[in-house]
Amino acid sequence: MDKKLLSDLTNRFGDAFYLLDSFQFEKNYIELKKAFTDIYPCFNIAYSYKTNYTPELCKIVDRLGGYAEVVSDMEAEIALRIGVAPNKIIWNGPYKNYKKAEELLLLGGTVNLDSVYEAEKIKEIAARHPEHVLNLGIRVNFDVNDGVVSRFGFDIDDDNFADILKLVRQTENINLIGIQCHFATRSLETWRPRAKKMLDLLDKLKLIPEHIDLGGGLFGKMDDSLKSQFDSYIPSYEEYAKEVAPLFAERFKNCENKPLLLIEPGSALVGDCMKFASKVVNIKNVRGKAIATLLGSIYNINPTLNKKNPPITVIATGENKPEEYSDLDFGGFTCIESDYLYRHYDGKLAQGDFVVFGNVGSYSVVLKPPFILPNFPVIDISRGEVKLIKRGEVFDDLFHTFAF
Ligand SMILES: Cc1ncc(COP(=O)(O)O)c(C=O)c1O
Repeated sequence: MDKKLLSDLTNRFGDAFYLLDSFQFEKNYIELKKAFTDIYPCFNIAYSYKTNYTPELCKIVDRLGGYAEVVSDMEAEIALRIGVAPNKIIWNGPYKNYKKAEELLLLGGTVNLDSVYEAEKIKEIAARHPEHVLNLGIRVNFDVNDGVVSRFGFDIDDDNFADILKLVRQTENINLIGIQCHFATRSLETWRPRAKKMLDLLDKLKLIPEHIDLGGGLFGKMDDSLKSQFDSYIPSYEEYAKEVAPLFAERFKNCENKPLLLIEPGSALVGDCMKFASKVVNIKNVRGKAIATLLGSIYNINPTLNKKNPPITVIATGENKPEEYSDLDFGGFTCIESDYLYRHYDGKLAQGDFVVFGNVGSYSVVLKPPFILPNFPVIDISRGEVKLIKRGEVFDDLFHTFAF
């Protein structure tokens, strides 16, 4: 981004804003889909809305033929409002508003069961609507050697799972459309076990559902500076595909109606599709430590507080003469002592410069709390024009729900 564009954006949108790269998002989607379909053509992507539910992005997924993976009625509503066909909506998540889930089921959407409690609800809904076929999936849970006991889905070795399966299979107006699993660990080593165990389970059950959904948990693209801060290897899209898609190609090679292999990526698609730009408000020295204050906070770029330094670029605006700093920390606008967006910066900096943080596409805008300041605007400049994606929040956006 050059100085002229930056100055135009600042004049229009203020001293801090997000830059959405919807073009990169589209490229990521196409590349990820190709990596899998090259090996197993009966494949699709169910984009994890919660990771970044900016409607502009959800619309791209819909335009490219993908599914909406939602975990709340709020997210289901986003999908319906942008015109996603209900049969392309899959509702996961450990809590569901069953009034809304019933509505989605009646429209033809898919609800993935996560607990016995939910099965009871479904039984009631099925009994209330004998004339409707309800598309139901079951979330399953097993060991993928990641050292985590996941809390999602049914333990496939538990009696509850067998009971639920029986209930679903015996209820005439329930269509068991899919089996789903999700493991948060993004390491490549967990991908073959998840595919293998899903296929083994289906063999054991003598079941080939329409969808076999392996969930999310894939790393996305990132700079080497960020990669080096992870304990595990960061695989490419092709490497993930090669771990699982050949198992599906082999297993279903003689099958006329091949099941649809689904994955539910969030970060892998959107992580590198957003930047956050903020002006340097001041630079101070506290007991020998250089600290720059930004009009931005760790809650703008990394509300999960994962302690990683994102990739940064400093854009000199020429407002003030830069000085050389070493071990400078970029602090945020909040009053939280630990609110640092980046630590240990070495290089030139001046008050009035802009700092641009990369790789802030996942769990940023959707998780930013209304703490100290409302959130900043989101702008998309990736297609040769300046498009306002989300206006900056104002006082009333946050306070109209309170009784004054
Ligand atoms: C059910 C489900 N699917 C998909 C995802 C997306 O995960 P990721 O961003 O790691 O791909 C999540 C994230 O928590 C999830 O819970």
